[in-house]
Amino acid sequence: MNNQNITSLLQEDRLFEPSEQFKQNASMSSKKEYDDIRKLAQEHPLEFWEKQAQNLHWFESWKTILEWDYPHASWFKEGKINASYNCLDRHINSSHKDKIAIYWEGEPGDTKSFTYSELHKQVCKMANGLLSLGIQKGDVVAIYMGMIPEAIIAMLACARIGATHNVIFGGFSSDSLRDRIQDSQAKCLITQDIVFRKGVELSLRQTAQEAVLQCNSIQHTIIFQRTKHQCSVSSDIDILWHELIENQPDNHIAQGFDSEHPLFILYTSGSTGKPKGLLHTTGGYLTQAHYTFTRVFDINNEDIFFCTADIGWITGHSYVTYGPLSAGATILIYEGVLVYPDAHRIWNIIEQYKATILYTAPTAIRTFMKLGDQFPLAHNLSSLRLLGTVGEPINPEAWIWYKSIIGKDMCPIVDTWWQTETGGIMIAPIPGIIATKPGSATLPLPGILANVVHKDGSQCDINEGGYLVIMSPWPGMARTIYGDNERYKKVYWSEYPPNTEHQGYYFTGDGARIDKDGYFWIMGRVDDVVNVSGHRLGTAEVESALVSHPAIAEAAVIAKPDDIKGNVLIAFVTIKKDVNVDINSLKQELKDHVSMHIGSIARPEDIRFTESLPKTRSGKIMRRLLREIISTGIISGDTTTLEDFNVLEHLREEE
Ligand code: WT7
Repeated sequence: MNNQNITSLLQEDRLFEPSEQFKQNASMSSKKEYDDIRKLAQEHPLEFWEKQAQNLHWFESWKTILEWDYPHASWFKEGKINASYNCLDRHINSSHKDKIAIYWEGEPGDTKSFTYSELHKQVCKMANGLLSLGIQKGDVVAIYMGMIPEAIIAMLACARIGATHNVIFGGFSSDSLRDRIQDSQAKCLITQDIVFRKGVELSLRQTAQEAVLQCNSIQHTIIFQRTKHQCSVSSDIDILWHELIENQPDNHIAQGFDSEHPLFILYTSGSTGKPKGLLHTTGGYLTQAHYTFTRVFDINNEDIFFCTADIGWITGHSYVTYGPLSAGATILIYEGVLVYPDAHRIWNIIEQYKATILYTAPTAIRTFMKLGDQFPLAHNLSSLRLLGTVGEPINPEAWIWYKSIIGKDMCPIVDTWWQTETGGIMIAPIPGIIATKPGSATLPLPGILANVVHKDGSQCDINEGGYLVIMSPWPGMARTIYGDNERYKKVYWSEYPPNTEHQGYYFTGDGARIDKDGYFWIMGRVDDVVNVSGHRLGTAEVESALVSHPAIAEAAVIAKPDDIKGNVLIAFVTIKKDVNVDINSLKQELKDHVSMHIGSIARPEDIRFTESLPKTRSGKIMRRLLREIISTGIISGDTTTLEDFNVLEHLREEE
């Protein structure tokens, strides 16, 4: 954790009340109802969460609401629950049976939809298929797919039989896939032949095949055929999806698993090289996904919820799959690039399907904004009633654009702060109640106790920047880092351990401030993790990819603010002695090298060559100085711990 003070520069005083039109139809618009909920959550938090859990189906009720054994929580212990049952069976036994669960549009324009009862059948077939392969409760199943309904079917089929899914973003390279399969010891991999991206067919299956060669744990690879091309199996562990489910019954009796049974592992970047596999369990996670989805998005039976996040990120888990489907909502998902073949695409989709809620990332909003108002203005977007953002701080300019051009000043904006680790939304407005300010995620949701504190744990003053912490356990919290409990303790729970005043604070790694109205303003990461296009990247991971190149001795990667992506990566590298290279072609080669080893999301925008990197006497690279060089070109901070002052001069000459 950095020591330096966090200074906030943003001054934003505009306040927007929910429109009367929105309030009229909102499921919660009475201040009294909100105040009652908030009061209950404050005075009796366990009772409050118990009430939320009661909105789900449990095979058996819990005996204890929360058991807190710092830093481990168990929620709804001894309760028995099945996430897949909650997302399917309880709807097909109600009037939702023939309601659309999923509308899907492929990038080339092909479409599919599933009613709840159709989705149930497909999930049951797949669950039976997995069982027929010998996959059992507790086994890990890796899912490496694009945004197609079958990815959701695969997740729910795993959940149904108690297998723990590990979804790996389809944009990751074969090395990244291999690492995540190896770390989770997955027994089975579910993938697809190809995905469409900007009109190009990318072979996921081939990337998967390369990875599997180095993964001894994998006993079966299931391949879904996205295209009509005949796809053949190439090894005896391969099986085609449609052949696997062909003769499987379309019914399967779901059983209840322990509330704390592992539902999924999801990898995210940390400040050291290795990605962290966050482990989420069933009852608490689903409670929070359901509660936050219904409240923050003010869901009603007619809504068509369009979340643009990929299934490979936590947003895809909580607000494509588990939140919406547990609530019996209709989701709209899209396979490809939102501005392909042109900037009309996303608006066209909203218009055609009459989406009522759009949930997307600030980086996407800034892209739409830059492409021009004429694209959204050419479409009838009047079906929209609510807009959401997630993934990074949104700059007020983009917020106002989103509100006026997309929302026509009628739709409230819910800026939702949360993390892979939190499982569900933590800080966000309840849209019919809470007035919004551009750039603020507003208030912690009822049930969530957040604060901004100094390094010593004392509360920061109004508007004083500090560290964002969560002061008490919440149901959706990750339970550990898979296979590395020590790291879990160290990263999240060692900054603010229990003392006479509290039971330990969760350290988010974000800087923030709280204004005079109690509104939270997130100021970004305080560790060596950077946010590029709404996704966290550990600079250490990119550095390690760079030094794996034979010409590179050392590397330091920092973030540079960018109008569209939030940040882009700039890499400083030193070349090994006696290596003779052409700098320009090496630059290109290194960028490709990072794309190949991690995925194009981590591709550096620029590579700077230097003779040495600025380091402290103990040998730590001073990324802070590199950041200063990049943002101002001037070094003003304290440099007395620098090992070699000359280094800075060289770096500046590179400008
Ligand atoms: C980090 C978590 C949560 C799903 C997507 C990202 C940043 C997230 C906001 C927001 C400001 C935000 C934080 C956080 N972040 N939402 N509304 N305002 N910053 O999940 O990859 O786990 O990243 O994203 O820095 O710590 P993630």
